[in-house]
Amino acid sequence: MVRSIKIAPSILAADFLHLGDQITQALDAGAEFIHMDVMDGQFVPNISVGPVVVEALAPMVHAAGAIVDVHLMIDEPERFVPRFASAGADIITIQVEASKDVLGTLKAIRTQGARSGLTLRPKTPLLSIQAGMAFADVILVMSVEPGFGGQKFLPESVARVKRIREWLTAANSKAELEVDGGIFTGNAAALAEAGASVLVSGTSVFRSDAPIGEAVRALRAAALATTVSP
Ligand code: DX5
Ligand code: ZN
Repeated sequence: MVRSIKIAPSILAADFLHLGDQITQALDAGAEFIHMDVMDGQFVPNISVGPVVVEALAPMVHAAGAIVDVHLMIDEPERFVPRFASAGADIITIQVEASKDVLGTLKAIRTQGARSGLTLRPKTPLLSIQAGMAFADVILVMSVEPGFGGQKFLPESVARVKRIREWLTAANSKAELEVDGGIFTGNAAALAEAGASVLVSGTSVFRSDAPIGEAVRALRAAALATTVSP
């Protein structure tokens, strides 16, 4: 099977003084998604960006034919679905732990014209997302505790990706399987082999010694390299 992989640079690790320029470099190198982490200081012990930043960046991302991928790490995300959808989010992903009405929120995201995403903390049992999977266009596996960039990849995430890929295959689902946290050239192939279709990366793209475009290309090349002989 020919593997393909989408790269989703996470702006959390970007230089916010030069955000537009840095995203342009990632898009020019072929990044398919631009990942934006929204944090409320409640669901996670950190605060990041909100709808105004999505609004500012969406036109340039769309002009490049790429996707605005919004990851809500906020309590009661249902409160903000319309706001992020109208700001230009193409994907709105919610944490299964954060919503009082997961199915209703996933449906509301679709009603607003965006793709629905569902994610979970690394320690949350996979079964917790099973009911929501039928209403999700994207499943995101967190491979670090949500809240901060630059953390170390949790290796048990590979098995979680593999299991969810099995579920998606069994359900004949075309949902994207995204992985987020601690991803770099050293673990990209294992994740792609486990069945990931989208790799999120902040640190390895925006804080690499290499230029941003080269870092995007290196991550894709690493993901597509074979680690296990057939
Ligand atoms: C963590 C965020 C991630 C983060 C990934 O809460 O969801 O998207 O930006 O960053 P790195 O690649 O630095 O782990
Ligand atoms: Zn994220």
